[in-house]
Amino acid sequence: MDTLIPTINRLQEVFLTVGADVIQLPQIVVVGSQSSGKSSVLESLVGRDFLPRGSGIVTRRPLVLQLVNVAPLQERLKTENGNGIKQNAQISYPGVKAEEWGTFLHCKGQTFTDFQEIRQEIVTETERTSGENKGISPEPIYLKIFSPKVLNLTLVDLPGITKVPVGEQPEDIEAQVQEMIMSFISNPNCLILAVSPANSDLATSDALKLAREVDPDGRRTLLVVSKLDLMDAGTDALEVLLGRVIPVRLGIIGVVNRSQHDINTHKSLEDCLRDEQAFLQRHYPSIASRASSRYLAKTLSRLLMHHIRDCLPDLKTRVTVLSSQYQARLNSYGQPVEDQSATLLQIVTKFASDYCHTIEGTARYIQTSELCGGARICY
Ligand code: GDP
Ligand code: NA
Ligand code: MG
Repeated sequence: MDTLIPTINRLQEVFLTVGADVIQLPQIVVVGSQSSGKSSVLESLVGRDFLPRGSGIVTRRPLVLQLVNVAPLQERLKTENGNGIKQNAQISYPGVKAEEWGTFLHCKGQTFTDFQEIRQEIVTETERTSGENKGISPEPIYLKIFSPKVLNLTLVDLPGITKVPVGEQPEDIEAQVQEMIMSFISNPNCLILAVSPANSDLATSDALKLAREVDPDGRRTLLVVSKLDLMDAGTDALEVLLGRVIPVRLGIIGVVNRSQHDINTHKSLEDCLRDEQAFLQRHYPSIASRASSRYLAKTLSRLLMHHIRDCLPDLKTRVTVLSSQYQARLNSYGQPVEDQSATLLQIVTKFASDYCHTIEGTARYIQTSELCGGARICY
């Protein structure tokens, strides 16, 4: 996501300045059976450890996780404060002196700078509406994470597909969860991360089955094969990862998430990523460069970049229209006087149009320079 963040930041600044909406990036939604590793996959994408995970039904309400990049705000503060602030200075935000923090829609006016507390709040809020005994609820929890290291992107964590009701779950738990999942993934502007564990048969994958219902052509479904480390001795997932069992147009990416033991022993995310890489090198040398959580993040970046590129013609049109509207208004004032705001608008418009070219160039570069197999995403 590293290269995409500055791009989106600058675009966002331009379009906010001209009063247009920012590019609507697709929501990324994880689907899969219970304990397939959905929450773990999301966490490694965000790069922070804060989602409740574990065996059994842990995610019991949809979690709509909105990532907000605060780098532009930091930049502005830096300029406003002259050169007094160092590169990685902490930014100040109403009531917050932290680099990264979170807020919940249901906790008005409260900011969370401790990610353990964020996790605890998700658990508490889940129990408030869904009880303590495995009940589920379709009412989403809305969490925003502010950080200079994230993309402006919305990720959705969902309860997993289960078949047999346990605890306080209703008889029709399977239908209820499916309906909840469908309400998110039927949105055509949603990218589906179908998570399927390597230690169960891909042909029975609930994730792929649901994804196919809303995306039969596979234009917005990416398959993530988790738990590569938990396969039976003597078996491996090579055929699956090569797409020879079930082909998936946007790609099939194998990952090793943190095990329950890693979570219990507080193994750091960096150590996990390093060990994942070593595991892939050892067991899947031929495709190690096309697997891993990091590669998944890169692939998502590329898909998002394609999406942005596809949005550019429309954005250009909007800038042009805005520009001529302002020009017309300016003309209607009669005589040409020195109008500061018009000058500013012209500068911004020119910048936006130059910048569109830069991004198109970048997108083309990325497309040709990466092994993307001609995959394209449409929304
Ligand atoms: P979810 O129910 O689909 O959200 O799954 P979670 O992310 O909560 O993971 C369920 C359990 O499986 C947790 O104990 C994770 O640590 C474990 N887990 C998830 N992915 C992997 C993996 O790739 N390898 C191993 N060993 N454990 C995993
Ligand atoms: Na689970
Ligand atoms: Mg979960």
